Amino acid sequence: MTTTTIDTVQTLESRHILQLYRRAPVTFVRGQGVRLYDIDGREYLDLLSGIGVASLGHAHPGLARAVADQAQTLLHTSNLFYHPLQGQLAERLANLSGLSRAFFCNSGTEAVEACLKFARRYWYTRGEPRAEIVALEESFHGRTFGSLSVTSDEHYRAPFAPLLPGVTFVAVNEPSALLAAVSTSTAAIIAEPVQGEGGVRPLTPAFAEAITQACARTGALLIADEVQSGLGRTGYPFYSAAIGLKPHLVSIGKALGGGVPVGAALVSDEVAQAISFGDHGSTYGGNLLACRAALCFLDELVGGGLLAHVGRVGRHFERSLKALAARHAIVKEVRGAGLMWGLELTRDATPVVREGLARGVIVNRTAEKVVRLLPPLVITEAEIDQAIDRLEAALAAVGAGE
Ligand SMILES: Cc1ncc(COP(=O)(O)O)c(C=O)c1O
Repeated sequence: MTTTTIDTVQTLESRHILQLYRRAPVTFVRGQGVRLYDIDGREYLDLLSGIGVASLGHAHPGLARAVADQAQTLLHTSNLFYHPLQGQLAERLANLSGLSRAFFCNSGTEAVEACLKFARRYWYTRGEPRAEIVALEESFHGRTFGSLSVTSDEHYRAPFAPLLPGVTFVAVNEPSALLAAVSTSTAAIIAEPVQGEGGVRPLTPAFAEAITQACARTGALLIADEVQSGLGRTGYPFYSAAIGLKPHLVSIGKALGGGVPVGAALVSDEVAQAISFGDHGSTYGGNLLACRAALCFLDELVGGGLLAHVGRVGRHFERSLKALAARHAIVKEVRGAGLMWGLELTRDATPVVREGLARGVIVNRTAEKVVRLLPPLVITEAEIDQAIDRLEAALAAVGAGE
């Protein structure tokens, strides 16, 4: 029998896994709360939660019990039949979002694809086909063709052209640019209320107001992509509502299943009425396992007080990060809300991520110069303090070499 070591894992992957990801040289085998443990038993504080997914932390006892129980009962039957959990989950999401109907899928990009299709279908049903979309610079909405078409980064787009036609990108937080771009040919505006991959950039209330005005003037629908910013991450159920937006469609994913893949498009009544049987679908979407995990997450978020917890620890996180930035000249700006933060550096963020990993704190780099922080929503103030100490050591090590 061969022993599993970091070398055997990496050698096997290098032969058989399509090489799409530049993985850090660490192999995780176990987690507990906000801590991860690698194959050699080293402990790490996880300030990334698998890019905003492990919302309840790792090995959450309630989620583990729910998933195990569901696996022993019934996992999947397809959308050809009813099961008891999909309606319950949709009702809970409707109460949280104010959007009455849900379509379930398996990932963030599928949720965005569904929103784009539903927006097109809305205008088709009205007998006024509109195909144009206004999206934002620095946006990221996923890797499938529709989502990629509204993602601005040329690096992701160029190898796959031609993408969907009719997409216009406007500068973020520039109300006049947005107002000029939206017309009566615009089917929808799509925006992340806090841009994630683009460097953790919250939309300003003034920009949100321009979006609302543009929609009112032209009839364009608003798609809020809350895959990263939604479901408690910023201390609000949805950041769009916090800045005064009233989207017709909302895409969600990541945190919803706490690690079990599940996404959803949440849809207003007005849009839902334009959609017919067979317009869209998914084999896995909303199966019993996914719904059970998502119900468990929502139990914690709403009934379990997790949302209020994020509000509290989020303020502590913000204070600590701003104090950290004041001590390190390489941190230029601190942006975010709740437990979604970015530290924009004066330089490439790669060495900070690497030095952090070496000191037992997991963060990641986005938009080249931004260190992104998306800890599990259950993180405590004491754990934040400990993680910040490790991050501080990483910043000092990189800053000293400047
Ligand atoms: C705002 C946003 N939308 C969509 C996606 C795509 O989600 P997924 O990777 O689950 O397809 C992401 C992923 O990072 C995201 O941040």
